[in-house]
Amino acid sequence: MEKDVLLLAIESSCDETACAVVRNGKEILSNVVASQIDVHTLYGGVVPEVASRIHVENISVVISEALRQAGISVADVDGIAFTQGPGLIGSLHVGVLAAKTLAFAYHKPLIPVQHLTGHIYANAFVGELKFPLLALVVSGGHTELVLMKEDYDFNVIGTTMDDAVGEAYDKVGRVLNLPYPGGPKIDRLAREGKPVYRLPKPKLENEMNFSFSGLKSAVMQYINRLERNGEELNVADMCASFQETALNSLWDRVELALKNNEVRQLVLAGGVAANSRLREIVEQRMKKHPDIEYIIPPLSCCTDNAAMIGASGYIAYQKGIRADYDVSADASLEMPGAY
Ligand code: KG4
Ligand code: ZN
Repeated sequence: MEKDVLLLAIESSCDETACAVVRNGKEILSNVVASQIDVHTLYGGVVPEVASRIHVENISVVISEALRQAGISVADVDGIAFTQGPGLIGSLHVGVLAAKTLAFAYHKPLIPVQHLTGHIYANAFVGELKFPLLALVVSGGHTELVLMKEDYDFNVIGTTMDDAVGEAYDKVGRVLNLPYPGGPKIDRLAREGKPVYRLPKPKLENEMNFSFSGLKSAVMQYINRLERNGEELNVADMCASFQETALNSLWDRVELALKNNEVRQLVLAGGVAANSRLREIVEQRMKKHPDIEYIIPPLSCCTDNAAMIGASGYIAYQKGIRADYDVSADASLEMPGAY
């Protein structure tokens, strides 16, 4: 039997300070997340400078708590996995420095992890990943269709030309005067409304890519037109209209990717995967593809956390991927290609 691999994982790419202890990439011994959302809600969005300062304040406590809950010390782990990027540079630096410090002090290997690969591998907590696999990565910063022929072989076959889908949710939320982040609020309000406002579906030359900034502008123009005509805006109906258009545009591309590629499994990843309507759409539409398995991760695995960095870090560890002590945060780090 192979020896267990215990990883301490650290994530600080945006506005959550997180640390987890994960065994063999699958078993979560602890998963501590300190969210800064209340602070950023006051400003209507994440303020990078504020985010990095709060990470500095929280990181040691979050790491100690993750170790305490797992009942271990840093000396017991086989490596320190950390988010190297992408994300807010000041925020990333805090986690990277914490990881380097622990690795140096305890003579542990450092395992660099790309944040989006963490979102994809969060699905390993639910079931076994089966390749070739298609991942729909939908978060505040990214909208990506990733085809994986095997572990750690990330092939981006579709991406956004402008705003990420989560960003579009948050911007439309702001237009509708909803508190930050708009995504979960729009999700909730859309359930009370009907998609009666006709919004144009984003059109693109390359059908595999996404575009959401035009949709956000269309929502603004629609609201202005209603105002000019003295008509009242039904916020719930606008939420439903925006959401249906955005999610159908997402799904059209997934469908095309499933048609054009041999895929055994579809997985959802990222904060927007928490969306209740998207989850419904996937369940309904996958009935047409009985040969393709799919995983929709539980809500707790969708938004940023460190357990997912431990899951991806485990595969990286097995593949011998290591960072030196001079490793630095990389705000625009891409997913690694085939190793
Ligand atoms: O993955 P994540 O936690 O952070 C990034 O790496 O970006 O994703 C955050 C994004 C935000 O834009 C948030 O509005 C969106 O995920 N989000 C949602 C929902 N829950 C979170 N969007 C739509 N519906 C939701 N239920
Ligand atoms: Zn994320």
